[in-house]
Amino acid sequence: MTLLAVEDLVIEVPGGRAVDGASFTIEPGEVLGVIGESGAGKSLTGAAVIGLLPAGARMSAGRILLDGERIDDLHEEDWEDLRGKRISAMFQDPATALDPLRCIGAQLNETLNAHHPMIEKVRRERVGDWLDAVGLPRERMRAYPHELSGGMRQRLALALALCPAPELLVADEPTTALDAPLRVQVAALMRRLAGRQRTAVLLISHDLHTVAAAADRVAVMYAGRIVESGPAEAVLRAPAHPYTAALLAGLPGVGPRRARLPAIPGAMPLPGTRPDGCAFHPRCARVAPRCRREAPTLAPGTAACFYPLTAQAAHG
Ligand SMILES: Nc1ncnc2c1ncn2[C@@H]1O[C@H](COP(=O)(O)OP(=O)(O)OP(=O)(O)O)[C@@H](O)[C@H]1O
Ligand SMILES: [Mg+2]
Repeated sequence: MTLLAVEDLVIEVPGGRAVDGASFTIEPGEVLGVIGESGAGKSLTGAAVIGLLPAGARMSAGRILLDGERIDDLHEEDWEDLRGKRISAMFQDPATALDPLRCIGAQLNETLNAHHPMIEKVRRERVGDWLDAVGLPRERMRAYPHELSGGMRQRLALALALCPAPELLVADEPTTALDAPLRVQVAALMRRLAGRQRTAVLLISHDLHTVAAAADRVAVMYAGRIVESGPAEAVLRAPAHPYTAALLAGLPGVGPRRARLPAIPGAMPLPGTRPDGCAFHPRCARVAPRCRREAPTLAPGTAACFYPLTAQAAHG
């Protein structure tokens, strides 16, 4: 059964709709990478899934279901039972997850115990196991977060997010603060550790290398909607939507090999300024008259485009 279903999600901010009918699903144990330029609505979507929309943003339509049950209309008390247990979160800055005043062993110990009370000896062993799992030496158990490197801190945040064995992890730009080689390393670690305990991951990133290293499936977001989705390997190798292709162009090692292209001309529309027809049409190299009049829809495993680059069945 589908673990997470986001259906026709609409999120309004003061300027207008920042998320405008986004739909996607995640299966148990699956890593879905959500990519798109700044302002696409990725973080707001992730925030809605964990019930933590920022002030000024409001979900005005759509449904979010976890294991078939609606979670978008829960009261804050009910969220207390979900958050950190069935759904956990991880952000760009590990400081959001770490207590600067307590040693790392104590933080893991407490998180483990809060969710799965166990006898002291077993718990100490499990803390050691998690340090091993994320590549932190057990001798560093008494270290404080400031004594660790940025990469180590983010790996510790990953251990803290995963150790309660949640059904879903929402990770918003978990590697963006790291240097390029470390991004791929942390992304691959996330995939391996989440996979072994069947935690599904909503991985939000504008770093395509991170997504390539971790995601089973990719969803591409533009102007508050998913414009393409499919198996990560297929979408990154042979994108169907001209927007996806433009995002991938020029990135060495990801996507089709071709000469480096300039950045996509123009800018993502701001909330409330979605163009008629296909929202990407003012920036699209393949634009045709129909694209200015009609909005293409997205069928599963395809691209929301009248003139896709690859056969619509490619990702099926
Ligand atoms: N609390 C808020 N109040 C008003 N506008 C907001 C708020 N949060 C986000 N927005 C606007 O909504 C749009 C989508 O924001 P969001 O943070 O979801 O984008 P994103 O895809 O995560 O981008 P980035 O890659 O930069 O993180 C942006 O135009 C942003 O300015
Ligand atoms: Mg964001």
